[in-house]
Amino acid sequence: MSMNLVTLLYLVASVCFIQALKGLSHPTTSIRGNLFGMIGMTIAVLTTAALIVKLSETAGLSTVGGLGYVLAALVVGGGAGALMAQRVEMTKMPELVAFMHSMIGLAAVFIAVAAVAEPYAFQIVHTKGELIPTGNRLELFLGAAIGAITFSGSVIAFGKLSGKYKFRLFQGAPVQFAGQHMLNLVLGLATVGLGLAFMVTENWTAFFAMLALAFVMGVLIIIPIGGADMPVVVSMLNSYSGWAAAGIGFSLNNAMLIIAGSLVGSSGAILSYIMCKAMNRSFFNVILGGFGGEATTAAAGGQVQRNVKSGSADDAAFVLSNAETVVIVPGYGLAVARAQHAVKELAAKLTEKGVTVKYAIHPVAGRMPGHMNVLLAEAEVPYDQVFEMEDINGEFGQADVAIILGANDVVNPAAHVKGSPIYGMPILEAYKAKTVIVNKRSMAAGYAGLDNELFYLDKTMMVFGDAKKVVEDMVKAVE
Ligand code: TAP
Repeated sequence: MSMNLVTLLYLVASVCFIQALKGLSHPTTSIRGNLFGMIGMTIAVLTTAALIVKLSETAGLSTVGGLGYVLAALVVGGGAGALMAQRVEMTKMPELVAFMHSMIGLAAVFIAVAAVAEPYAFQIVHTKGELIPTGNRLELFLGAAIGAITFSGSVIAFGKLSGKYKFRLFQGAPVQFAGQHMLNLVLGLATVGLGLAFMVTENWTAFFAMLALAFVMGVLIIIPIGGADMPVVVSMLNSYSGWAAAGIGFSLNNAMLIIAGSLVGSSGAILSYIMCKAMNRSFFNVILGGFGGEATTAAAGGQVQRNVKSGSADDAAFVLSNAETVVIVPGYGLAVARAQHAVKELAAKLTEKGVTVKYAIHPVAGRMPGHMNVLLAEAEVPYDQVFEMEDINGEFGQADVAIILGANDVVNPAAHVKGSPIYGMPILEAYKAKTVIVNKRSMAAGYAGLDNELFYLDKTMMVFGDAKKVVEDMVKAVE
């Protein structure tokens, strides 16, 4: 296979990846987008395999041996990935994504270490001497440093997202201490200094010291970010993993890795920016690890016993049937309960009775970007009933009923209270509806660990129980 053909095939794969990103921007085209992604990746993998054969032949090495290692890694890694993707529950997707980011970061680190150790094997030896050219050393430093930050940061994000580890660093609440930002700054400067020292001198010790600091920085950048800001962290680590791959692509002189890495890096950065805007957070504060963020202490919910009004599914069904307009607010609990089909049925029954039903989607409801859109699309809820936050917020004031199903943080009025950890985050203004119905299993706090005043309002009726069971009971009662 000629290098021209390799370049052409990589170009075709890149176009497929761009089409994949384009397709994934809307639920109706997302299947096509995924298909493009799969085609692009197949072309990229096969072309790379052919390239390995060609490079091995040129270097007079055994083709079978080199390709054998790659195929073995593909079977083991691909098999494990396929199994995990098949088994993962929808609500555990963010953890899987964080795990994958950590693997990309680690792969970048391994490749950089291998390239520094064996520059001949990577064909990056300077023609006139034994030193790795300065430009390649810079790429190796950047790829390894970003990869290390991505790895350790993603491990912390994984722990925070799974929420099942007792270890303090893995818990949702921000970990903050005096002098944290100064420490991050000093470590950041030291990492850059050591990286530059490696670039100038090709000193191994400087390279490994830089790598060790980058691993520590990954942890320090993510631990002060907590609760409701985790969505931004996930997309930010996604972006970092792309840049790490692109950096290593330069070292390996592989155009495909550079293009695919840049696409992931830039789309992740754009997504982080959009999410920061949606959450009313400063982009730079978040990417620099909560820099400038105020130290906050989350008021954990459920500490003080307070009275709420509660009712049954039948009571809620009665209120809903007598309403003219109902806005449904789905949240993480709806996904946990897998109640989306029951909700669609409830909406259909209400519509039959002449009630106008709309769904309100918060950009970070659930545990991954677009989580609620995916969930409702799975139940084939008509798109014209689904409204984004900025389009529906103006309508809550006129709605007879806002029914909140397994959502908490995204409707928490604490976002309007100065000093609250979620202060400034835009919320779905469900509290403005004439009546509010909230379904959840208990008075437990949401992901940000905060109490929710909405539950204690006079106009709020709590309906306790698993969302699926409660909504199914509502459907029966409406009938
Ligand atoms: P949360 O604030 O997490 O609240 C979900 C509520 O659902 C909980 O209070 C829980 O209360 C209830 N629940 C759980 N299982 C249930 C079930 N089977 N039936 C009924 N209710 C159930 O969810 P949200 O309002 O969707 O907000 C999302 C939060 O996650 C935000 O803070 C967001 O920043 C964060 N986050 C989002 C993402 C992305 S990208 N979307 C990623 C990471 C983190 P009970 O236990 O009392 O039932």
